[in-house]
Amino acid sequence: MLEKLTRAYERTLAWGNGGFGIGHYAEEGEKVPQRFEFEQGAFELTNQNGLYFNWHYKPDDYPEHLERLTRRETTPQELRLAFFASGRGSNVDAILRNINSGNLDARPKIVLSNRDDAEVITVAKKWGLPRIVIKKRTYKKSFDANVLKYLQDFKVNCIVLAGYLPKVSRNFITEFPGHILNIHPSLLPSYGGKGMYGSHVHQAVLDSDEVRSGASVHLVTEDYDDGPILGQRVVDVKESDTIKTLASRVLHAEHILYTNVLRDIQKGKIVL
Ligand code: GRF
Repeated sequence: MLEKLTRAYERTLAWGNGGFGIGHYAEEGEKVPQRFEFEQGAFELTNQNGLYFNWHYKPDDYPEHLERLTRRETTPQELRLAFFASGRGSNVDAILRNINSGNLDARPKIVLSNRDDAEVITVAKKWGLPRIVIKKRTYKKSFDANVLKYLQDFKVNCIVLAGYLPKVSRNFITEFPGHILNIHPSLLPSYGGKGMYGSHVHQAVLDSDEVRSGASVHLVTEDYDDGPILGQRVVDVKESDTIKTLASRVLHAEHILYTNVLRDIQKGKIVL
């Protein structure tokens, strides 16, 4: 079994820079543990909401190995979040809903957008969060300093990008090393990089006759969609899918995934 798990982990590495495992689809109702941690990383098994993202085995058959795979000691982290978004804000809304319902232990501090007509501003208002519109064009060279000042004032320690279009500059990456997250609507490293956003991603997935797509949460580096992958969630691509239907299923997966990853960070299971 351990050999199987190791193979699963290697397969994960083949998909991305570590992160969660990608195994076979389990039978509906199959009993599987939720998560394993290794010295080198971790992978998550889930059979929620019809998404089967599991490795094939029955935990009860392998008690001695399960013991070796028990969780590491973890230290909970306080998450003080800033959300950066340019559009609809459905991921921000989903995370705030989970915080509000006690499903995620985090302190949302501020929502920042580069567009004053972005729907995410209304989302922030609905949840009573401070919201700031700060346009690169207006601030030009002082943009970074202005935004960083807000982040300091609100004592933010983690930046959550959710459909934020401007490129995040080196200043932010230096100020928040390894603490800027982004979500992308594909199974990175596939279908990421410059020009791969929104419908372009789903069109490319459909054009390539992929049978699976999904969402990835990764750390932000200076290159688009290139940082270490913290979590992924798979969705099936159906033959009848259009860009719209696929996008909608992937978005639903994003709403679950982002909170799951943030929760793992908060609980200290993922160490940034
Ligand atoms: C999501 O599909 C996300 O993966 C991408 O931008 C989109 C944002 O959607 N980075 P929303 O604004 O959260 O609804």
